[in-house]
Amino acid sequence: KPRGYAKGRARKQSMKIIVTGGAGFIGANFLNQLVTPLPQHQFVNLDKLTYAANLGRRRALDSLPNYALRRVDITDMKAVDAVFDEVEPDLVVHFAAESHVDRSILGPREFVRTNIEGTFNLLEACRARWGKDEQRLFHHVSTDEVYGSLGETGLFEETTAYDPSSPYSASKAASDHLVRAYHRTYGLPVKITNCSNNYGPMQFPEKLIPLMILNAVDRRPLPIYGQGVNVRDWLYVTDHCEAIWTVIEKGAVGRTYNIGGNNEMRNIDVVDTLCNIVAEETGTDPGELLALKEFVTDRPGHDMRYAIDASRIAKECGWEPKETFDTGIRKTVQWYLANQEWVNDVRSGEYRKWMDANYGDRTG
Ligand code: NAD
Ligand code: TYD
Repeated sequence: KPRGYAKGRARKQSMKIIVTGGAGFIGANFLNQLVTPLPQHQFVNLDKLTYAANLGRRRALDSLPNYALRRVDITDMKAVDAVFDEVEPDLVVHFAAESHVDRSILGPREFVRTNIEGTFNLLEACRARWGKDEQRLFHHVSTDEVYGSLGETGLFEETTAYDPSSPYSASKAASDHLVRAYHRTYGLPVKITNCSNNYGPMQFPEKLIPLMILNAVDRRPLPIYGQGVNVRDWLYVTDHCEAIWTVIEKGAVGRTYNIGGNNEMRNIDVVDTLCNIVAEETGTDPGELLALKEFVTDRPGHDMRYAIDASRIAKECGWEPKETFDTGIRKTVQWYLANQEWVNDVRSGEYRKWMDANYGDRTG
């Protein structure tokens, strides 16, 4: 047990759990993984249903007795209070956020509102009802982007100084600081996880991996920012969700855990791999897909490299990722090829309108 931290909280047999952002990419995977195998807990998905949410993906859960959805904007304190009074949660798992770096560059206001003010509202709702009660827990889901950019060597550790580059990562950094301050100042029981880039089923095609898969399938250009040499660590989404639940169960209160996939890749290598797998899975000539690559203007403030030292979560909680990039990326390509209805659904809604207005027809 790390010194100076309370032991992992005594968990109730049956918890009322608010999952914010449970209609988003990671939140939806989290609910899909946990609601059925944990019937003793009640799960309430608190989501504004922005462009990034797709209720289509929730259908399987809707019929389960231990799942409910409440359409709530976390920047609306009254609505947050009402749902907290109704649910009286023991655990809050906070995913809800504006999550795309490029959007934060084009329009940062929503990021400040949802990611900072929204997190603040949830913390206030918890503080008012829980005080220091260690039977309760606020689990904050954050990103490794708060640490800024690495050079060619080195890894982000939990003690690495915050140095965010984009409005997105700055807003997540601010929310992390608030969560930690509520623990230190008010004794609110919290845990924080900072993880690397997720990929897998149900991710919107504004993000690199699904964008490249769908554009390759459609024979549209594959836009690579700069020279494609920026490095990300890729974490399969189900591994991330398992890690979060492990930290909820075994992590120490007040403590931060980094989560990584041990899969550092240059963007250009990710795109080449995707072209080859899409070609293989669809019986296409890989050369035809590789020829779609286009080097485009770089993202301003583009972080060069992210990489995670995930030894704390391994040592203290016994978690390690199960998927390698090879296994996870093939499953991901297969999921997008098999779920054309989901793809059409996503591409025809609010998301499409915004992409058309801001990117023209460059992206998926
Ligand atoms: P996402 O954009 O796919 O989904 C976000 C969800 O939050 C959507 O369902 C949306 O409707 C909801 N939401 C947005 N604003 C809201 C508001 N004001 N009130 C209530 N709900 C609101 O995001 P994601 O990729 O699933 O990311 C989930 C969390 O994980 C975020 O906090 C993100 O910062 C963090 N994270 C993501 C990644 C990644 O690679 N995707 C990596 C590290 C950390
Ligand atoms: P992204 O999926 O937006 O995640 P993040 O910015 O949070 O890391 O981008 C992953 C990497 O891929 C990042 O280095 C930017 C790059 N990228 C491209 O080269 N082209 C694209 O069209 C997109 C969306 C991203």
